[in-house]
Amino acid sequence: LALEMCFSVIMVLCNPVSLKGNLDSSPFPSSFLFGTASSSYQFEGAYLSDGKGLNNWDLFTHKPGNIVDGSNGDVAVDQYHRYLEDLNLMNYIGVNSYRFSISWARILPQGRFGSVNKAGINHYNKLINTLLLRGIKPFVTLTHYDIPQELENRYGAWLSPEVREDFKYYADICFKHFGDRVKYWVTFNEPNVAVIRGYRSGLYPPSRCSSSFGNCSSGDSENEPFVAAHNIILSHAAAVDIYRTKYQKQQRGSIGIVMNAIWYEPISNSYEDKQAAERAQSFYMNWFLDPIILGKYPLEMQEILGSDLPVFSNHDQKKLKSGLDFIGVNHYTSFYIRDCMFSVCEHGPGSSKTEGFALRTALKDGIFIGKSTAVDWLYVYPQGMDKIVTYIKKRYNNIPMFITENGFGENDKSDSPTEESLNDLNRVEYISGYLDTLAAALRKGADVRGYFLWSLLDNFEWTSGYTIRFGLHHVDYATLERTPRASAIWYKQFIANHTSPQ
Ligand code: NOJ
Repeated sequence: LALEMCFSVIMVLCNPVSLKGNLDSSPFPSSFLFGTASSSYQFEGAYLSDGKGLNNWDLFTHKPGNIVDGSNGDVAVDQYHRYLEDLNLMNYIGVNSYRFSISWARILPQGRFGSVNKAGINHYNKLINTLLLRGIKPFVTLTHYDIPQELENRYGAWLSPEVREDFKYYADICFKHFGDRVKYWVTFNEPNVAVIRGYRSGLYPPSRCSSSFGNCSSGDSENEPFVAAHNIILSHAAAVDIYRTKYQKQQRGSIGIVMNAIWYEPISNSYEDKQAAERAQSFYMNWFLDPIILGKYPLEMQEILGSDLPVFSNHDQKKLKSGLDFIGVNHYTSFYIRDCMFSVCEHGPGSSKTEGFALRTALKDGIFIGKSTAVDWLYVYPQGMDKIVTYIKKRYNNIPMFITENGFGENDKSDSPTEESLNDLNRVEYISGYLDTLAAALRKGADVRGYFLWSLLDNFEWTSGYTIRFGLHHVDYATLERTPRASAIWYKQFIANHTSPQ
């Protein structure tokens, strides 16, 4: 309580617009989902417990040199065992929804080549049932980067069309066991990031390299990211098809995909830079959304890549018609875009053919887009939220959207919760700024139905290990104790001000 009182003064000063909102004027409808987001590998731990099989991230993190602090997700924040404690934290904040992912290797330790792990099913049943008892709606991702290693070993996972069968089989099991209670399904989390980092820069498993960025020195085929993406798009289509034909009528849920969505701001008003910003979007987010929603790859990709871009057969096209019910938007950051098609660019992310000759840069005349942070890819530019939501609304005819992630990471290595780490006003400023511009987009008619903050707790931040913290709660990684930060209390007040009591 003392903590709460102490922070409430600062909170009000910090962002009058967001906190002021009263229900009558709130742009967030009463059905709006406010939650926090997480993922199995980053949260669960329990990596060999109760029959779970090994996944690609288990292997990758155990290889020295892959993770900056040499850590892994073996224990993570142990949510597998501590979910009740975490549900208490959620109830305190007052969220009405929780986004988490299912660990594929916990359900199918050997993919479709072995049996279903009952203990895995039981675990998620307990989690889902307890969430519902507590008034929190489960918002469930089927794949958040982690896949059974068996699929890699057998046929290189996403590089093989075989994997579509695996995903369909796995999705079917999840719908069958959990779909009576889960009403929001996500097939993939950020497949654009998984594919670029897994097959182009080599930074994520399976560490394939086809560019001169990241860990790459010698190239695997330049086409691999496009092949992997193609198989992911068709895996999504297969899962949605199963959902639509076998389950959706009785279960009455909805299904979508989550994309990493960066706002690309043209670095100048020139026609060329504006076109480059469009190309950057096409080679990043639209790469997946266009085929799923519009039935074909973006024109820019077709023109630049030609026969390097896989083709959808008639049969594939029929499957693609299953589409999706909503777009999940993970938005954190923005970049300037400089054209490299008609002018020569220095070497950098985006300057190559496979990235649409659109150079991504944080700086314009020595000034950062928004505010730079300790996290190399994170620039605080709240207008980016309004701009990306409005862009998606226009391109895809206002299909329902959820902001499935948004949040602020700090480079903070302190294990015990210092005052500096708990008094996270930078995070409060970030969240309130982004929520304000989200509200602006809603007022202009964008059909956004929920917002999930990344994240409830500090957790395993992929190749950055435990060095970057995103939590509304600090986690002491020695004791796994959770301590609320100022941002937790700010979010609690924000939700209370924008929702009616249950
Ligand atoms: C998006 C990813 O989905 C999530 O796993 C990650 O931790 C956050 N971005 C922050 O980088």
